Amino acid sequence: MKKKAILGIETSCDETALALVSGEGEQLTVEKSVVLSQVQEHAKYGGVVPEVAARQHLEAIFPMLEHEVPSDGAGIDAIAVTQGPGLAPALRIGVEVAKTLAWLWHKPLVPVSHLEGHLYANWLSDGKRAPEFPILALLVSGGHTELILMRGHGDFERLGETLDDAAGEAFDKVAKMLELSYPGGPAISKLAENGNPQAYDFPRGLLDRPDLNFSFSGLKTSVLYTLRKMNPKEQDEPRASYRREPLLPQVRQDIAASFQEAVVDVLIRKTKRAAQRVEPAALMLAGGVAANRALRARFEALASELGCPALIPDFQFATDNAAMIAAAGYFRAQDQRHFASPPALAANPNLEIAK
Ligand code: KG4
Ligand code: ZN
Repeated sequence: MKKKAILGIETSCDETALALVSGEGEQLTVEKSVVLSQVQEHAKYGGVVPEVAARQHLEAIFPMLEHEVPSDGAGIDAIAVTQGPGLAPALRIGVEVAKTLAWLWHKPLVPVSHLEGHLYANWLSDGKRAPEFPILALLVSGGHTELILMRGHGDFERLGETLDDAAGEAFDKVAKMLELSYPGGPAISKLAENGNPQAYDFPRGLLDRPDLNFSFSGLKTSVLYTLRKMNPKEQDEPRASYRREPLLPQVRQDIAASFQEAVVDVLIRKTKRAAQRVEPAALMLAGGVAANRALRARFEALASELGCPALIPDFQFATDNAAMIAAAGYFRAQDQRHFASPPALAANPNLEIAK
């Protein structure tokens, strides 16, 4: 493999991101990575509004390109873009920009799954050895919770997935119940730092089943009912908002910590079960929830218990970014069959990583 520089473009949700990643063999270097978050814009609405996200991407992406990328594409060997999954109006902005640049510069266009990108965030840590296959990956983001067996580059098998909410989505919904601002994951994990994870015994979905699927909706409902019980008035008016009287700080911290414990516990126990079946060479954590400190610590402990390395993305590459898209694009670009024709490429909000 000769040295190649890949431009990555990511607009699947509420971060506009561009990156330049160079690669030689299995080793990647992040030359540039910029992420413009729209969270403050969406916090007003309590979640991401697709059309607002698209407009923000449109406003952000050209100044970003102007600032970060030579206008003639000099030094760039290929353009990788998130094709999906994600919000259709948001994805379209990145895809159309990437198509235009590829057409204008006569460079290969490489569509990438956002989920594959999350896995490849683990190739971005400077100085670390490239991961060895087969890898068992726990992918936990705002939209997905999956256990994936990665046998080689681009060779994935999904071993399990969530049957309802994703882990990140559960964090976001419980955060709303606790009147924390969007996005909920970082807010809950901060609150949990001073809480007792054993204070409430929240349910661990599907642990009694032998398969490798997840379910977080029962846990979410259990948190809701626990909150309602604390305010008897609400039981008479079940459709009313969760609470009217403020919760004691300790109670909120304990609920956050116990909820987080239940999520982490299920994720770790199902990953362990999967690892015992497939005996991977390494365990890999990926997706926005991989920024959670409690999960990272338990994941490392699991890997050392199983005697295999734990691959955990740097914080900056755990949540959405374009360096991970460029990284996935770099490996995909090794096979020309992965190149797309600019006029034919379309965003695919339901794109899957593996069958
Ligand atoms: O991967 P990501 O940035 O976007 C998607 O592809 O969905 O993941 C975002 C999700 C959100 O649900 C957010 O609440 C969660 O990751 N998240 C966290 C933490 N940081 C982000 N969840 C728990 N603890 C965190 N520290
Ligand atoms: Zn993501």
